[in-house]
Amino acid sequence: MAPKTNGIGVQVEDMRICVVMVGLPARGKSYIAQKAQRYLKWLSIPAKTFNVGNYRRNDAPQPSADFFDTNNAEGERKRRAAAEAAVADMLQWFKSGEGVVAILDATNSTKERRKWVLDKVKSEGIEVIFVESKCDEEELIMANIRDVKTTSPDYKGQDPEKAALDFRDRIRNYEKVYKSINEDGDEDDLTYLKIMNVGKQVIINRIRDYLQSRIVYYLMNLHIRPRSVWLSRHGESMLNIEGRIGGDAGLSHRGEEYARKLPDLVLESVGSDRPLTVWTSTLKRTIATARHLPKHYNQLQWKALDELDAGVCDGMTYQEIADMYPEDFQARDEDKYNYRYRGGESYRDVVIRLEPIIMELERSEDILIISHQAVIRCIYAYFMQKTQEESPWVPVPLHTLMKLTPRAYGTEVQTFKANIKAVSTWRGKGSTAKHEDPSPEGGV
Ligand code: ATP
Ligand code: F6P
Repeated sequence: MAPKTNGIGVQVEDMRICVVMVGLPARGKSYIAQKAQRYLKWLSIPAKTFNVGNYRRNDAPQPSADFFDTNNAEGERKRRAAAEAAVADMLQWFKSGEGVVAILDATNSTKERRKWVLDKVKSEGIEVIFVESKCDEEELIMANIRDVKTTSPDYKGQDPEKAALDFRDRIRNYEKVYKSINEDGDEDDLTYLKIMNVGKQVIINRIRDYLQSRIVYYLMNLHIRPRSVWLSRHGESMLNIEGRIGGDAGLSHRGEEYARKLPDLVLESVGSDRPLTVWTSTLKRTIATARHLPKHYNQLQWKALDELDAGVCDGMTYQEIADMYPEDFQARDEDKYNYRYRGGESYRDVVIRLEPIIMELERSEDILIISHQAVIRCIYAYFMQKTQEESPWVPVPLHTLMKLTPRAYGTEVQTFKANIKAVSTWRGKGSTAKHEDPSPEGGV
């Protein structure tokens, strides 16, 4: 039997990785862990984060800074118990056969703690990568404390000023014992990625296989400068009006109107005249939609942003597909994410080809993507953590601009409607309707 891969050539059988976060508090470890998990799950790689802080909160819900003093025996015992419980659950998750990449989210800030984790995890035949976030930019650390720590469950109901001071003291307690990875030169055998000052400098040590390097490359590209990503479908096309899928048609009269209105809609949503970089597909309808945008916006065409390839069904209506390929039509409704059109693509295939787009988006600042229904669903699924069951059905109406703004632990969505009529291209399960209204649930 051919080896089981997840579609990007990653052989998931027998491959298990534990990403062990390292670093002082408020260095973005949970942020990094959460992004890595989201990215991997989007690529169909089972990933789960085990946050030691959550385990500790069962036993010590609102500890003050002295709890984290290593001379505090009670604190030490409870912290150790929390780490043991998290690691035990993580190993259980691997043993159940479900797990491929686990992320152990804790400070793991001493050599002893790292050795303990390494020995435990390696003895189960699981690879370990340490990912350290090291940051000495005082202002950024204070901003992190203000933005996420004072609202953490550790300080629920407490005065934010006092919470920030206490958190500062907590960090001081960690600093007394903290050792950056390989600081003493005796951790050179470890596989690790050290990210300094949010990627200004990175150190990579002993990274081995493909999946490890994908994770490392992704994490190296993350930044936290404020930015947004705008998503729009092309204006209504001539084939949209006929209810036909795929093709390379030009815009309808109303689609043209959307293209002309888009610059104002973008301006309104940006809120300033700062320029965006525009990415379109290579198909006529997205290029035409972008053509009235200001000349000083850089534009780039990506083949990877072309619409899902419907293979032999390209250019057909849903009714024609149901008549000509009834079994395929039903199979698609049953598992829309995995169904691959004859000679064409599945949503899973589209996600795989979008991976470089996601990587580039992570590295970039303000980007406006003008693409197609299925492609936008896949990008939206990445940002909004939509499951494979949900994502292929998300309504993405024509003539609507979406603005996604990444925040510390999630993405904020705003929509801007052009108020220009367009047909609906959303199709509900089992339906062959040409123009249907999306269900009210799950809409963008
Ligand atoms: P703790 O040990 O208390 O759990 P933590 O290290 O997990 O802290 P986070 O909760 O992830 O810290 O902090 C989130 C904040 O860190 C966000 O505001 C995010 O913008 C910022 N951040 C993300 N990446 C980095 C980084 N590489 N260095 C510093 N800050 C970062
Ligand atoms: O201090 C931040 C924190 O996330 C605590 O909430 C948690 O108890 C601790 O780190 C986990 O790390 P350690 O293994 O150092 O106890």
